Amino acid sequence: MLKTKKDLDWQNLGFGYVKTDYRYVSNYKNGSWDEGVLTGDSDVTINESAGVLQYAQTCFEGLKAYTTAGGHVVCFRPDLNAKRMADSCKRLEMPVFPEERFLDAISKVVKANIEWVPPYGSGATLYLRPYMFGSSAVIGVKPAQEYQFRIFATPVGPYFKGGVKPITLRVPDFDRAAPRGTGHVKAGLNYAMSLHAIVDAHNQGYSENMYLDSATRTKVEETGGANIIFVTKDNKVVTPKSDTILPSITRRSLMYVAQKYLGLETEERAIPVEELKEFKECALCGTAAVLSPVGEIVNHGEHICFDKENMGEVTKKLYDTLLGIQLGTIEAPEGWIKVIE
Ligand code: PLP
Ligand code: COI
Repeated sequence: MLKTKKDLDWQNLGFGYVKTDYRYVSNYKNGSWDEGVLTGDSDVTINESAGVLQYAQTCFEGLKAYTTAGGHVVCFRPDLNAKRMADSCKRLEMPVFPEERFLDAISKVVKANIEWVPPYGSGATLYLRPYMFGSSAVIGVKPAQEYQFRIFATPVGPYFKGGVKPITLRVPDFDRAAPRGTGHVKAGLNYAMSLHAIVDAHNQGYSENMYLDSATRTKVEETGGANIIFVTKDNKVVTPKSDTILPSITRRSLMYVAQKYLGLETEERAIPVEELKEFKECALCGTAAVLSPVGEIVNHGEHICFDKENMGEVTKKLYDTLLGIQLGTIEAPEGWIKVIE
């Protein structure tokens, strides 16, 4: 069926908020979630002392809906977002929004905003942002009694300006996550922690920060919004193993693709910062970042350089295979693609 689409310049979208027609809202009160509704109202009204406003009790997810080569509107592994959000909620003393209901709400939001799902081939996607926050008043430091779960949708293009041109990272003097803290869940507070570091990085001409482990500052962790993969000179795909980074769904998928589709060896292990110069390729991976090549890492005066003009050869193969799987031109592993319509 031919769908009317919004009249947007799909090819030239950036990664920003655009108000779409519908969002999903469900409220938690007296120990249970209400049945949830779609609403046109993009404003949230909460008490001045809401848990989220005072003690940052909030977590979120990010996933995309897009049009495949075959004309279906699909999401990529949304079950893993549902699961990760449940983990985030538990760590932040928030009630879990049941995973089945999370998936159903995703479908509802995508269907209600189907005119906002970018056409196949445009490179754009409909980014979905599920999130939850403490909505009732607290003043002593404790979890709220009431919560709101919402999902909104916004059409997006590439996360980094310039599309797939390699970016430059710097190793900052700031940390992102503490040992035994919340780095492994998608808590809003992790991103609040990173705001000063990202503004400072941008002011100095870098696209992102490459954080080190805060306990020893000797091992590579991740950036503010993506995991990192490296390729060794003998074509092994290596990624940091750490308890304080977010378990990226894109990274887990890429490691599978590297092994099963490309026949490459993979390693998830500690990566000492001195090893950076030994790698031949580096890229950021995440829902927003997809697979963004890194051209250079600057570590306090030391410049570690990769290909500054083009995506590395192995990175390109990973990118093409993942995109092919997502867009339906390469057969996907069982359960990876959820057809919405
Ligand atoms: N790491 C951080 C800190 C992130 O914010 C994200 C984005 O969600 C990722 C990694 C990538 O995770 P995913 O591939 O699940 O989007
Ligand atoms: C995502 O990739 O979905 C994220 O949440 C990262 C954020 C920097 C936009």
